[in-house]
Amino acid sequence: MSIRNAVIPVAGLGTRLLPATKSQPKEMLPVGKKPIVQYIVEELSLCGMDRFLFVTGRGKSSIEDHFDIDADLIRSLRESGKEDLLSELEFERLGANFFYTRQHQQRGLGDAISYAENFSGTEPFVVALGDSIIGRHEPSRIVERLIEAFEKSGAICAIAVEEVPLDQVSMYGIVKPASDAEVFEVLDLIEKPARSEAPSNWAIAGRYVFSPALFDAIRRTGVDHRGEIQLTNAIRLLLAEGGKVVAVRLPSHEKRYDIGNFESYFETFVEFALTDPVYGEKLRQYARGLLGENS
Ligand code: G1P
Repeated sequence: MSIRNAVIPVAGLGTRLLPATKSQPKEMLPVGKKPIVQYIVEELSLCGMDRFLFVTGRGKSSIEDHFDIDADLIRSLRESGKEDLLSELEFERLGANFFYTRQHQQRGLGDAISYAENFSGTEPFVVALGDSIIGRHEPSRIVERLIEAFEKSGAICAIAVEEVPLDQVSMYGIVKPASDAEVFEVLDLIEKPARSEAPSNWAIAGRYVFSPALFDAIRRTGVDHRGEIQLTNAIRLLLAEGGKVVAVRLPSHEKRYDIGNFESYFETFVEFALTDPVYGEKLRQYARGLLGENS
C-alpha cells in the first residue's frame, strides 16, 4: 500500500445540526462512544494512512485537541489502573501525524481540497469526508479497494459509490457507470442533479483517491450557482480531458452513515448504541420497554 496521505475536509458550518453545532464542530458529535472524526481516522489507519490533513474552519479547534496526545490524561489513567480506557484512545498510539489548515472562506468542497496541495505534493492522496462514517463497529476497507482500483487501472481518480433511492439523487454527486461491475469506469458525473437529469442512482459516497493532477483541475474549475467550487466538477474536467475515473461500489455490509441532519444523526447514534458490544444488550432491553413490548 503506497498511499499514506489522507485529507479530511471538516470546514462545513453544520447549520442543519444547530444548536448542537453552535460551539462544536459537527464532526466532533459523538456516535455511540466516539466522535465521528475518530471513526474516520481509525478507518483510514487500517487502510495504511498515517498522515492526516484536516481542512478546518472557524470553531473547529476541538478536533485538534481530540487528536493531541494528552500526556497528563494518559498518566492519570495509567496510575489509576484504567488501562481499558486507554485502549479507547488507541488512535494516540497509531503513530499517525496530524496536520491542520484552515479554509478561509466557505467556497465549496473543491476549494477545501485545494488547501492540501502543499501537504500531498506530487503523491496520490485519499480524501475522506469528515461527516461520513462507513461501516458500523467494524471499520470499512473501502479505501484499500479504492487504492487497488486506482493503481491497477492507472486512473486519475477512484471514487466510492453507493446506490441511493431515486428520490434522493439531488442530494449527491451522481456517476454514469460504464458497466454494472463491482469496479466500473465512470463515463460522466454530475453534482446534485435533478431526478430527471441523473444518469443513474449511483451516488458518490465520500471516499476518493486522487492523483495530484486534481489540484490543477480545481484551479481551472469555475464556481457553481452558489459561488462554490465543486469537487465533482473538477473530476468532471479531468474526465473531459481524457483522464480515467473509476468507481468502486460500497459492499452492502459496509453501510455509510452521513451525519448531515438530525434525522440521520439520531438514526446513526441509535443504531451504533443499540449494537454496542458492551452496552447494546441492556439498551435494547430498555428500548423494548420504551416501545411497550414485553420481550
Ligand atoms: C458532498 C459531495 C457529493 C457527495 C456527498 C456525499 O456533498 O459534493 O458529491 O455525493 O458529499 O455525502 P455534500 O454532502 O457535502 O453536500
